[in-house]
Amino acid sequence: MNQNITVGRLNLKNPVLLASGTVGYGNEIAEFLDLNKIGGIVTKSISLKPRAGNPPPRIVETASGMLNAIGLANVGLEKFITEKLPYLEQYDTAVICNIAASTVEEYVICTEQLAHQKRIDAFEINVSCPNVKEGGLVIGNNLEKVIEVTEKVRKATTKPLFIKLSPNVPNIADFAKGAVDAGADAVSAVNTFVGAAIDLRTRKPKLHNVTGGLSGPAIKPLAVAKVLEISRKHPEIDIIGIGGISNWKDAVEFILAGAKAVQIGTVNFVEPAAGIEIADGIREYFKNE
Ligand SMILES: Cc1cc2nc3c(=O)[nH]c(=O)nc-3n(C[C@H](O)[C@H](O)[C@H](O)COP(=O)(O)O)c2cc1C
Repeated sequence: MNQNITVGRLNLKNPVLLASGTVGYGNEIAEFLDLNKIGGIVTKSISLKPRAGNPPPRIVETASGMLNAIGLANVGLEKFITEKLPYLEQYDTAVICNIAASTVEEYVICTEQLAHQKRIDAFEINVSCPNVKEGGLVIGNNLEKVIEVTEKVRKATTKPLFIKLSPNVPNIADFAKGAVDAGADAVSAVNTFVGAAIDLRTRKPKLHNVTGGLSGPAIKPLAVAKVLEISRKHPEIDIIGIGGISNWKDAVEFILAGAKAVQIGTVNFVEPAAGIEIADGIREYFKNE
């Protein structure tokens, strides 16, 4: 298998991308891993205005995973352009800019304002954050809304456009088809699963937000099933597989399930250099193909 791949019109030097929200804007991981050796980085969700996110506690460790309810804390579009994006100019790796918003209009404005940034190679639209009251799953779990966001954002940029899907729906393949028919070049599957944890001492939820997004190894079989659901029903759709990948074998499972590329998230907190080993392992596994 050639390591150079194309997913949703985006050329990558290898199929491993660092998932949004787990590596900041690249700077937070660059001292542990050479970003030049990675297929690409998906930046932390950016919104039009800076967001403080949810009050703590907003992270809880769980068996083989973690719950987060960060609530899209980010520096906002202006600082992203002036302070974060220039840092990535020194690297020869794909930059996928992830956008979050509370309304359809905000997604469009954000994309328009970023569309001409040369360092951005593609957009990933986060319609699936489980930790915010507006936007998030209100949009991501509603097929008509996902189609509307995709259609409108599509008009705001000619760059490759990926829609990051919610796994918290019974029919993810319909969402993938809806997004692609509305102009998306690929789908990212999946975002976190809604979860909660209760503290036995206080008898209250451990997260201030009550629920959070479950990620890490615990979700891998669930995420692989979501990718399979899309690829079996719509083999023509380019899929970026995400969810619980900790090593190259996990990544190969997603590729065999129909993903063209993968993203790794929670593992970056445990083993920040994992991305390189995962890319090497995929190359070795497919070396004769
Ligand atoms: C702490 C944390 C923050 C996250 N923030 C974002 C975000 O801002 N935007 C987004 O699209 N996904 C975000 N995600 C979801 C990840 O990108 C990924 O879809 C999810 O964690 C599943 O992959 P994993 O099991 O490899 O972590 C976040 C995940 C974690 C753990």
